[in-house]
Formats: sequence, structure tokens, C-alpha cells
Amino acid sequence: MSAADPSGSITLTAPAKVNLALHVTARRADGYHELDSLVAFADVGDVLTLRPAADFSLEVTGPFAAALAGVPAEDNLVLKAARCLVQAWPGRFSPVHMRLEKRLPVAAGIGGGSADAAAVLAGMIRLFGPPPDETFDDRLRALALELGADVPVCLQGRACRMEGIGERITPLPALPGLPAVLVNPGVPVSTPAVFARLGLTPGKAAGSGLTDPLPPADAGIAQWLEWLSTCRNDLEAPAKAEAPVIGACLEALAALPGVRLVRMSGSGATCFALFDQADAAEAAARLLEGRHPDWWVTANRLG
Ligand code: C5P
Repeated sequence: MSAADPSGSITLTAPAKVNLALHVTARRADGYHELDSLVAFADVGDVLTLRPAADFSLEVTGPFAAALAGVPAEDNLVLKAARCLVQAWPGRFSPVHMRLEKRLPVAAGIGGGSADAAAVLAGMIRLFGPPPDETFDDRLRALALELGADVPVCLQGRACRMEGIGERITPLPALPGLPAVLVNPGVPVSTPAVFARLGLTPGKAAGSGLTDPLPPADAGIAQWLEWLSTCRNDLEAPAKAEAPVIGACLEALAALPGVRLVRMSGSGATCFALFDQADAAEAAARLLEGRHPDWWVTANRLG
């Protein structure tokens, strides 16, 4: 995931996270939603380079850089993550210059901002070394969660079951590399707006958790596809109401040859289709690109 350079800089990939299933199980009294989610990672992501510097700075490049142009520095999760780490352990960490190559669509349900923030934390720990603090792991987890509900799972960077609002994370044995097509129609979706559309009463239970038991450690693609078909993404309906183009994405994926399962990730708008063969996913991605040249389309393996 990362490479050090003799000049003292470090380059990391911040892979896209995909919620293969996302069940909303309750709404807490504070308004946040309790989830039970199966999170996997794609082999496509943003690329982040960090180097020690006199002060914090961020340079954004890449195909989706423009989407971040209007974000004030204090709201940028990448800068926030770096500052938080220095504030928490000022003797150990110091400011960094960061270059972010934004390859993932923004506000897209694939954790771009959370993945970037997690990569900043991981990269700075590699650059400066972890502080000699027995409570470091616990404090780092709390800091990650404060940055965003998806940051702790992105810090794991491997398939996990995620419960609560993102604070209970169980790493899973590696998935068998599920062949997938990811698609984003280029419409940013507001996560709070999608959760609000669920209309759940604070302090009340909602739907059931993930189907028990999860597939065993040696489960192959077929077994995972079968199990995933018993799960759902509870944010799909409210997200479609918020951004109707999500319905068009799901329909376009469902019409692809060889598709086995179609679902939305996170709070959208990115949707994915799963296949039982990688070449079927690649052919389907080419077909979809031809039909929707303005959509972001990628063939991938999720693990
Ligand atoms: O923490 P994050 O920035 O990902 O969340 C954005 C917003 O989405 C929260 O402020 C909250 O309104 C909503 N949210 C929620 N329950 C979650 C995660 C997010 O209600 N588990």
C-alpha cells in the first residue's frame, strides 16, 4: 500500500471502499445510525504523497481534483487528519506537505475522503514512527472515528464487518477477489440527506443485521455471491429518492451480460455489479462505458 522514497517522502494508495451489504439496524438517541455492514476494498484508489515540511499544505491533482476545489481548507478531511495527529502527539508528528491525486469520484459512497484521511494517518505513522504511547492504538481509533464514521474501516484497508456507527470493526479473512464493475454517474450525494430520508425515530431499532453466519474463511466466489444475495443496502431507496440517476445506474448494471448481483455502495451514488468471472466483469465494463461515456466505470476485484 505504501512506498518510501530517499527524499523522505512516502506514497500510498487510498483504495475505494465498497459496502457489499449495508443494513441499518437502529437509530441512536444522538441521531447517528447503527449499521451492520460488510466492507471490501477495490484495487482502484486515490494516490497520496506526503513529505515533512515547515507547515501543512495540500496540492490536489487528478481527474476529480476540480470537485475538491471549493472545499475550504478547514473542511478538507486530508488536512484535518494531518492536523489532528500533530495536535494529539505534538512531540512525535510534525506538519507535512501532501499531494493528493484524486482518482475517485467525490461524495460517491466509496469512502474517497475517508480513505484519503486513513492514508494520511497511516502515512504519517510510517514517516515519523508510532509514538511510544501504550494508549496509541485506542486513541488513534477514536481520532479516526471522529474524522468520519468510515475512517476506522479504511485504516484497516482489508475486508471487515463494520458495526455500530463504524467503531466496531471485525477484520475478515481475505475475500476471494470478487469480480466487479463499479459505476458512478457523476452526481454527488449528501450522506446526511440520505440518512435523514430514512425517517427513523432516534432511539428506535430498525431492520435486521447481516445474515448469520457469514461465509466461512475458505468460501469461494459462488458462496459469497449466494450469501450476499440474502443481504441488502438499506440506503438504496432513500438515495434513489435523493438522486434518481442511481435508479438508472442500477438498471444499467442489471442489464449487463453475466451479472450476478447489483447493489449501491454506502449512501451512493456509486453502484456495483458482481460477476463470477473477471473477464465477464471486464467485458461488461467496456459495454457500459460505450453506453454511458459520461459515467465513471471501472472493472475491479473486491477483496
Ligand atoms: O461520519 P460521516 O462524516 O461519515 O457522516 C456524515 C453524516 O452522515 C453524519 O453527520 C450523520 O448525519 C450521518 N451518519 C449517520 N449514521 C452513520 C454515519 C453517518 O447518521 N452511521
